Amino acid sequence: MRILSIETSCDETALAIITTDTKTFTIEAQNVASQIELHKTYGGVFPAMAKREHQKNIVPLCIQTLEEAGLHAKGEIQTEKLKSIEEILIREPELFNYFKEHILPVTKPAIDRICVTVGPGLEPTLWVGINFAKALSHLWDIPLVPVNHMEGHILSVFPKKEEETFTMPELSFPVLALLVSGGHTEIVLMKSIGSYTRIGQTRDDAVGEAFDKVARMLNLPYPGGPQISKYAALHRGKNEHSDISLPRPMLHSGDYDFSFSGIKTAVLYFLEDKDISEDIRESVAREFEDAVTEVLTKKTLSAIEEHNATTLIVGGGVAANIYLRQTLTDKSPIPVLFPRRDLATDNAVMIGIVGAYKEPEPLDSPSFVANGNLRLE
Ligand code: KG4
Ligand code: ZN
Repeated sequence: MRILSIETSCDETALAIITTDTKTFTIEAQNVASQIELHKTYGGVFPAMAKREHQKNIVPLCIQTLEEAGLHAKGEIQTEKLKSIEEILIREPELFNYFKEHILPVTKPAIDRICVTVGPGLEPTLWVGINFAKALSHLWDIPLVPVNHMEGHILSVFPKKEEETFTMPELSFPVLALLVSGGHTEIVLMKSIGSYTRIGQTRDDAVGEAFDKVARMLNLPYPGGPQISKYAALHRGKNEHSDISLPRPMLHSGDYDFSFSGIKTAVLYFLEDKDISEDIRESVAREFEDAVTEVLTKKTLSAIEEHNATTLIVGGGVAANIYLRQTLTDKSPIPVLFPRRDLATDNAVMIGIVGAYKEPEPLDSPSFVANGNLRLE
C-alpha cells in the first residue's frame, strides 16, 4: 500500500509518501515547509496568516513530493471535475487557483490512500489540508483517511535515525506516551495501536507554549524551546546555582494533570525590575528547564508505575529537548523511545504511519471536519 499523507495543523505544511504492509514502512519522500521565519517576526503563530501560507505552499510541496517519489507525470486534464473541485475549495480560493494550474494536469499517481490531519490544531489551517486532501481524493478517486495529530506524535518514534525503512516492533502493552508540544501536554495510555486513554493533561499552557513565552520575556526569538535549551545548557556547564527559584506547579497534586502558566508568571515577576543580560537569560532558562523537567518526569514516572507500562514514548516538539530526554532516559525504569530529530516537530510521515492502521471514510463524513480540540480516545 502506498500512502500520501498531509499535515497542516499549525505552522508547518508537510507531505510524505510512504509504502507499507503495516509491518515494514519505507519513507519514499517527505517534505516540510516551515513558517517559522514568518512567525518569528510576530513572536507567534497567527491563524489567518498561517492559513494563507499553507495555501501558497501546499501545491508546490505536493508536486515536489510526487517528483521525489518518482510519481509525477503530466497527462490529460480532467476538466469535468473542475466544478466540483472548486466547490470543495470554495473557502480556499487562492488554493483553488494553484490547484487548477498545477495539480489538474498531473496524471493519477500510483497511490492507494491519502491521509490527512483533521485535528487537534488550528482550525483555519487544518481546513487547508483537509480540503486539499478532499480535492485530491476526488480528482484521482483515491480513498481518504482522517488522522488525529496526537496519534501521529505517538507513532512518530518508530522510524529509526538515518534510515528510510523501519519495522514496527512487537510492542507489549500498555505503552505510556508523554506528548509535549507547542499546543499540547498530555499523558496517554496506549492499549494497542489505535486504542488510547488520556490520563492527564495541562490545565492551562502547553509546555512548548511556556518555553515560547519565557523565551519571549528574555527577548529571544520564536520558537523559544531551542533557545531556552541552549542558555540552560550554558548555565549548567558553569556549575553554579541559579539566582531565581521557580515553582513546580501541581508536583504533588496526585493526578497526571499539569499547569505551566504559574511558572511563566513567576518568571515575569522576577524580570520586572531587571535588565535582561546574558547572565539573567542563562539562570532563568536553567531554572525554567529544571522546573518543567522535574514536573514532567515525576508525573510520567508515577504513571508508569501505576499502570505497569512496558515502554515509554515521548513525542511532540518538546521531545527534542536534550535535558528532558536525558532526565527521562536516566530515571525511567522501562525503555524510552524518542522520535528522531526531523520527526519530533510536525511532519507528515507520522500522519502516514497512523493512516496505515485506519479505514478510509467517505468525503462527506463528519470526520473530515476540522476539529481544533479533537481528543485521543
Ligand atoms: O510538535 P510541534 O512542532 O508543534 C505543535 O504541534 O505544537 O512543537 C513545537 C514546540 C514549540 O513550542 C517549540 O518551542 C518546542 O516545540 N520545541 C522545544 C525544543 N524544540 C522545539 N522545546 C524545548 N526544547 C527544544 N529543544
Ligand atoms: Zn505537533
